[in-house]
This record gives sequence, structure tokens and C-alpha cells, in this order.
Amino acid sequence: MKTLTIQTPDDWHLHLRDGDMLPETVPATARCFKRAIVMPNLVPPVTNAEMAMAYRQRILDARPEGNSFDPLMTLFLTNNTSEQDIIEAKAAGIVAAKMYPAGATTNSSAAVKQLEAMYPVFEVMQEQGMLLLVHGEVTDHHIDIFDREKEFIDQKMVHIVKNFPNLKVVFEHITTADAAQFVQEAGDNIAATITPQHLLLNRNDLLVGGVRPHNFCLPVLKRNTHQEALRKVVQSGSPKFFLGTDSAPHAKEAKENACGCAGCYSAWSAIELYAHVFEELDALDKLEGFASHYGPDFYGLERNEGTITLVREDWTIPDEITLPNDKPIVPFFAGHTVHWKLQQS
Ligand code: DOR
Ligand code: ZN
Repeated sequence: MKTLTIQTPDDWHLHLRDGDMLPETVPATARCFKRAIVMPNLVPPVTNAEMAMAYRQRILDARPEGNSFDPLMTLFLTNNTSEQDIIEAKAAGIVAAKMYPAGATTNSSAAVKQLEAMYPVFEVMQEQGMLLLVHGEVTDHHIDIFDREKEFIDQKMVHIVKNFPNLKVVFEHITTADAAQFVQEAGDNIAATITPQHLLLNRNDLLVGGVRPHNFCLPVLKRNTHQEALRKVVQSGSPKFFLGTDSAPHAKEAKENACGCAGCYSAWSAIELYAHVFEELDALDKLEGFASHYGPDFYGLERNEGTITLVREDWTIPDEITLPNDKPIVPFFAGHTVHWKLQQS
């Protein structure tokens, strides 16, 4: 039997939600990831250290018996975030703050309306060594949804990077050749996460033959040339690109809806899907760097101890999972066969 053993990986971009979702989402991620960067877009958003620490405790309480999953908490930036909020968050152990342009995605209406007004806060983050995690899309109505990432680079990202040369910035869930190139050419303080869906799919998988709501996420899937560019950078083994699933559960009824929610729930198959892609790229030797090394190296954290083992064995992602509230959810890539499976210890 063919197996692949890698140092224990982390997920550098994850939505766990809250309340009765946690008994579903926490075990799903904790089955193979030691740490995860937990997104703060709850309702209401996690805007200060106290809220983040209370949320962290709720996540810890939802871990399976004996599991040592370590959630890394983030702050949700708004135009009311103060320098003091950053100092307190850093002191409480919060590693990063997330910048959503207001209205860019799920639960982001309270987010940043005027990015340049955040510069004093970015200044303190730079001083404190707190990372800035960016949802890189403009939200102007007249900008086409497929161009919003590129516009964000040109209008905003270049200026952030120029003004804060010592601020570590993660360009989250990149979807375009433009973003890949921007990150590659930027300094060592800029990196990016890449999701399984943006490596596996392109916009044809969203729209050809009917709308596929379970492939809808934000930033939206782009044309295949962009998908190819993302596959190329992970294949290259560049340490600027690392694993961030953006696993983002929404109940089936919220996805299969006249106004369907954005987000792919990939946690139960995430590491396996990445292995699937890296195998397709003949780059399985690059998986460990992407999944287990480049993330902690960029964040300035220790790499994990221990390993996980994947077995080359076909399995089919289930059509549905039942949430703790008894509602069904359709996992990402449902019904597809994946060639790698996590070996349960
Ligand atoms: O598809 C997405 N879903 N993109 C995001 O940026 C947010 C996420 C969510 O929270 O559902
Ligand atoms: Zn996200």
C-alpha cells in the first residue's frame, strides 16, 4: 500500500462558526490539523481580545476527548478598531487581524469601509508583530466580480505593502494569476494562502450545465488560466504559498437558495484534496512544505511535532452530512472520488 507521511499540518484560514456548529466543525479540522487560523466573521464579529478568548474557549470545549488542536485566534478589523485593541489582542496571544472590505463576503457588513483610515492601526500591528490577513477584493458596484481581486491589488495592496514594509501580510485565498505574481514579486513579508477549490476548479465548474451552488465561494472561481497559475505556484514549491482551506460551512438550504451563501465546507476532505491536486501535478514531494512548513515559518511559529499519514486509497466524499441541529450540509466535492485518505491513528 502506498503511503505518504508528512509533518503534522496546519490550516491557515478556517471558518469554524460558533454554538452548535462547533461539535461538527472542530472535530472535522482537528482530525488532522494541529492548528488553524480561525476567522472572526461571527455575528457579531470578534472585534476585541475578550471576545476572541471567549470564542477560543468554546472551540477548545468542542475538541474530541484527548485531542490537542490549538486554535489561533484573529481579530475582525472595523473602522472603529483602535490601536489599544491591537495592543490588548497581541498581549492576549492573538496572532493576526483580518481585514474584510465591508460587504465583500459573509458577515462582513461591519468591516472596513475606508481602508486608508486603518493605516494608524496597521502601524501598531507592524510594531507589535501582528499579521494582517487580507480579503483582497474591492466591493465597488461598478467593478465586475471577476476583476475585484486584481483591482484590489492595484488600488490597495500595492500601497499597503509600500507603506508597511515590516508588516507581515497574508493575501488570503488568492484566485488569480495576478495575485500569484504580485505575491511572488513582493518582499518576504508577503505570502498567500490557497484553497482546495481554487486549485481543483475554475468558473466552468460553477456555471457550465447549470449553477452549482456548492462550488460558489468568495472570491469567486476564476477562468481556467488563473487556476493553472495557482497550480503552477504550488507545484513550484515556493514558500510564499501555503495551505488555507477557507472551509466555510453553510447548511444545504442556505446554499441551494435563490440567494445562495458563499463558502465550501471542505474540512472533512481538505488534506486529502490537496494531496489529490499535488499528485495530479506530480508534486507530492511539495505537499509537506505547503501544508506543514511554510505557514508556521511565515507566522514565526514552531513547526508541529509529529506526523500524519495519508494512504493511497480511493474513497468517495459523502453527498450529505447531518449537522448537530439536524440540518443537512453538502460537503465540498460531494460525490467525487479522492485518491488519498487520512490514516486514522
Ligand atoms: O466563500 C467564502 N465564505 N468566502 C469568504 O470570504 C467567507 C466565507 C464564509 O464565511 O462563509
Ligand atoms: Zn474565509
